[in-house]
Formats: sequence, C-alpha cells, structure tokens
Amino acid sequence: MSKRSLRNLPPAALDGQRALVRVDFNVPLRDGAVVDERRIRAAVSTIRYLREKGARVVLLSHLGRPKGPDPKASLKQILRDVERILGTPVEFIPDPATGVAATRRLPRGGVALVENTRFWPGEEANDPAFAQLLAALGDFYIDDAFGAAHRAHASTEAVARLLRPAVSGFLMEKELRYLGDALEHAKRPFVAVLGGAKISGKIDVIHALLPKVDEILVGGAMANTFFLALGFQVGGSLVERDKEDLAKELIAQAGAKLVLPRGAVVAPSLARGAERREVPSDQIPADCAAFDIDRATRLDFRSHIVQAKTVFWNGPMGVFETPPFDEGTRAIAEAMIEAGKRGATTVVGGGDSAAAVAGLEDKLTHVSTGGGAALELLEGKTLPGVAALEDA
Ligand code: 3PG
Repeated sequence: MSKRSLRNLPPAALDGQRALVRVDFNVPLRDGAVVDERRIRAAVSTIRYLREKGARVVLLSHLGRPKGPDPKASLKQILRDVERILGTPVEFIPDPATGVAATRRLPRGGVALVENTRFWPGEEANDPAFAQLLAALGDFYIDDAFGAAHRAHASTEAVARLLRPAVSGFLMEKELRYLGDALEHAKRPFVAVLGGAKISGKIDVIHALLPKVDEILVGGAMANTFFLALGFQVGGSLVERDKEDLAKELIAQAGAKLVLPRGAVVAPSLARGAERREVPSDQIPADCAAFDIDRATRLDFRSHIVQAKTVFWNGPMGVFETPPFDEGTRAIAEAMIEAGKRGATTVVGGGDSAAAVAGLEDKLTHVSTGGGAALELLEGKTLPGVAALEDA
C-alpha cells in the first residue's frame, strides 16, 4: 500500500502551482472556539513545505456532520486559529463553485481555506461533478487528511482520481508508516493495549491484531464484557450483555495472549469517586460499578508494556475524563513512554486515546490523528482516501 508522497514530487515543479490539500480540520469547538488544535498543527509540516517551495495552497476540510450549510459548522470559525498556527493570512473561499479566481489570485506561498465541504451534498455522495468543482481549485492534489481517509467522499476520493499528481502529504505518510507498516512488520515483543467502552466497536481490531501480537492487554469497560463471559458479576458496570458469547469466543481463540485486568476501581457512581475502592475482578459488588483498572493491573500491564519492542494502544482504561478515574489510563501512557525510552516503537490510536496523551506526543513515536480511520486501517480494511492516491 505504498503511496507516492509529496516528497517524491520534484520541488521545482511545485513553484507557482496551486496545491489542493485535503486536511482534516475536523476539530472540536466550544462556543465557536477551537478546544483542541492538534489536527491543525499536524498538517503544518505539509503546508509549510509547499509554501516554502512557492506553491499556492488551497485547503479543503470537513467540520462536523452538518446537514447542509450551517453557521455552527462553518470553517470560518477556525480561520483565525489556522492563520495563527500557520503564521500567515488565510483567504476564505465561501463556495468552491465560485472560488477558482481567488485561488489564481493567491500569491506564491499564499494560503486559502475553502468552506466546509459537507455543506454540499456532492461531498458525501462522492459526486464526480462536485469533485470536478473541487479539482478546478488546484493544479495537483495532496491528501493529508488521514482522519477522513476511511470516507469515500468527493474531497477525499473522487477528486484524487481527477486531479493528478495525487499524492500523500507528510502527515498521511507518517500515519500510514506507523499504523500500517510498523505494526504489520512489528518488532517483537509486540503488545497491544485496548480499552474503551465497547467490545463491539473493537471486535474486528482484536481479530486482526491477534495473529500479529504477542499479547493483548484489555482494560476499560470492554473488560467487563470479558468478565461476564468468565462468569463474574459486574454490578452496575457498563457492559455489553449481548456480546457475552463473542467475548467467550475471543477468550478461547486468544488463549494466553489475552491479558485481562486483575481488579477494578469501583464506586457507587461516577459522582461518588471519594467512596472508591479496589476489588479483584471477580468481586465487583452489586451496588458498585467499575470505573478504572486497579493498581495491581496497572503494575501488571506496565510490566508487559516496558519489555515490548512495539506497543500499540487504543482506548482508555477507565473514565479518564473524570478524575480520579484517570489514573489507570495515565499509567498506560507512562508505561509507554518508559518503553519508548528503552527503544520500543510506541503508537497511540486517535480519538479518546489521543486525548488521553495530549501534551505527551513528543515522548511517543506516533499519536494518530485518526479515530475511525486508524481502527479501519488496523482492521485491514482499504481506506478509500488512500486507495485513490497514486502508488509509489
Ligand atoms: C474524525 O473525526 O474521525 C474524522 O474527521 C472523520 O469524521 P466523520 O466521522 O464525521 O466522517
């Protein structure tokens, strides 16, 4: 799945050309303000390189899941943040259908941002006519939107087939290297740590990882469904009762590779964290729920993680947004950093797990910007936004 990259385009050929760059600026907003700008920052190296080589940069992105034009999903809200992060003025193009002249007026090294592609129905329909409108905004196409690569939309898929060269940006390249090749040909021992609320969302990932890994450490509410399968009571814990049989099958299939928590931090409710206590996994009281992995599990998981040469982590170990139930999740982050110091490749999937390691990115080999896209890649699925790019 090796794809041609921006670094394979002769730099001289970029000068004065319009680079149509699909980024994933689908960032969380609160009252119109960006609350996590990491996805914008992650695209900076591609944009900076293009500008340095004299290209005119035209950025495309979606934001949220609007049903047609909606001021609350307008990319105009993030324009000032993009300008601040890039350190240059950014021209706003409110409609791709009338934007060609603006892209031609951009100075060499200039940057424009097109309004949310999802304002037009042709985007999600992967409509060739809408893709043609987008293609007219550039002279070549760069895809740096790994987070949206699992969507076959006009700005991620159809446009890449219309506008050539169509190559991956530096972020896309890095994501594919660490979530693709590095895990496919992992140095051993290879340990995966999976958490989060549901087995159901991770089942294909577990199946795909099992033959490749030496161990899978499972935490988060997902562990409760495994406890149920083992005949343990889980009290009021979050659990998928209809997935008990599936969990039984996985336990049988995984054998010793599957490492479950030894115990849990339980409390009567999330709001009553002061009453928390630690119990063994098979002794969760009926009037309590598990909200985190206990200290014995943290130590156990740490001992597996620090001796690994490749560690992949996706999904929190507990309700990490609500201290003190963030301690198990933080312990995994610390163990991964320690493994990295000992030479391991450490990769964190996007979404909640990326949020859990916010600020620690430079101590880890790679923190993905993709949530759904990262999981689909791990499941072995073809990402349409990647497939549409030119092969290396
Ligand atoms: C994400 O946030 O995972 C990507 O930006 C894709 O967004 P979507 O799930 O709305 O397609």
